[in-house]
Amino acid sequence: MGRARRVVLAYSGGVDTSVCIPYLRHAWGVEEVIAFAADLGQGDELEPIRRKALAIGASQSIVADLVEPFIRDYGFPAIRANALYEGRYPLSTALARPLIARRLVEIAREVDADAVAHGCTGKGNDQVRFDMAIGALAPDLKVLTPAREWGMSREQTIAYGERFGVPSPVSRQSPYSIDLNLLGRSIEAGPLEDPMAEPPEAVFAMVCNPAEAPDSPSTVEIGFEQGNPVSIDTERLDPVSIIRRANDLAGRHGFGRIDMIENRVVGIKSREIYETPGLLLLIRAHQELEAICLTADVARYKRGIESSWADLVYQGLWFGPLKQALDGFLDTTQRNVNGTVRLRLHKGHCTVLGRCSDDSLYDPVMATYGAEDQFDHRAAEGFIYVWGMPNRLWSQQQARHT
Ligand code: ARG
Repeated sequence: MGRARRVVLAYSGGVDTSVCIPYLRHAWGVEEVIAFAADLGQGDELEPIRRKALAIGASQSIVADLVEPFIRDYGFPAIRANALYEGRYPLSTALARPLIARRLVEIAREVDADAVAHGCTGKGNDQVRFDMAIGALAPDLKVLTPAREWGMSREQTIAYGERFGVPSPVSRQSPYSIDLNLLGRSIEAGPLEDPMAEPPEAVFAMVCNPAEAPDSPSTVEIGFEQGNPVSIDTERLDPVSIIRRANDLAGRHGFGRIDMIENRVVGIKSREIYETPGLLLLIRAHQELEAICLTADVARYKRGIESSWADLVYQGLWFGPLKQALDGFLDTTQRNVNGTVRLRLHKGHCTVLGRCSDDSLYDPVMATYGAEDQFDHRAAEGFIYVWGMPNRLWSQQQARHT
């Protein structure tokens, strides 16, 4: 086909990306396929995955540890943005894609590749995210998408792979499609495709069943600086350790399961189960701290920014100009989001117990009902006279009509 000579493939070790290796070489005549797998804290052994790519025909196999930048540059901005797609999904899968794409493009430059490739199918969001990110970072680079074009069913894909030494999936009985990284787990397909069917307990791995969570609650204190979580229970931790600790705590108490019908970029509705314990805990705490640190108008305006930010991350626009512009707003607003939030985790619930901040706008002498009250009660009269003016005029006018 003469499409490309040397290609860097985003490689996960799964069936589709594995079959991409022989397919690119034998069906599309690519001379050299270089596999690249990203470590995003998914907990998989990456050395076997690296070797697997070589065994099935990759000329080179690269593993990159991206856990730290993933949490610091993708996870933490999402916390600062309280980013929840359609009000619920904290974007654990979506956030990983621009980072993988960035490294993919860098490797392509380093090895002087003339194309990159990924194994996404044509129905999902991830193909959109990869293609959009690569297009923004390297508009000249060709993107090859075998799985979008080969038209094979899953069985045919497995059979094709077997001809070239791609081992068939060990757990062929698992009907689920799972995406996993340190920020969360996404599970779809199989019995979950019936939106009325309750998810079997077996789909969960990060968050325990709330009914089986410990009877005694845990209290946790999260410290923030400029909107970034920096400590748990007064212990200062690096970003990766914060997420690990938060995942562990919330997961143990059954907090962080989501079952939702979401609207994909390609227009269809899909049913996905998420487990994002740490991320949800940290967003909950962050929202609470903002409530005391941001003025009412900034907080109100920020809600719109947050939902635009979540939408564009979901839709693959990470490297676009709107994202940059919204980040400017977020950076400014987060400067005085500093302080501590105390929460309780218990049997699937997360309850805020308290919050404090040196930048707090909460003024006790204004808020109190006690003797120290300094609020000028009489000033309210003039305020209400002016504030109510438009409605009084309107009511008078209505009365004349009837
Ligand atoms: N729906 C989620 C998203 O678009 C997750 C996609 C991957 N899910 C999966 N189970 N493989 O971000």
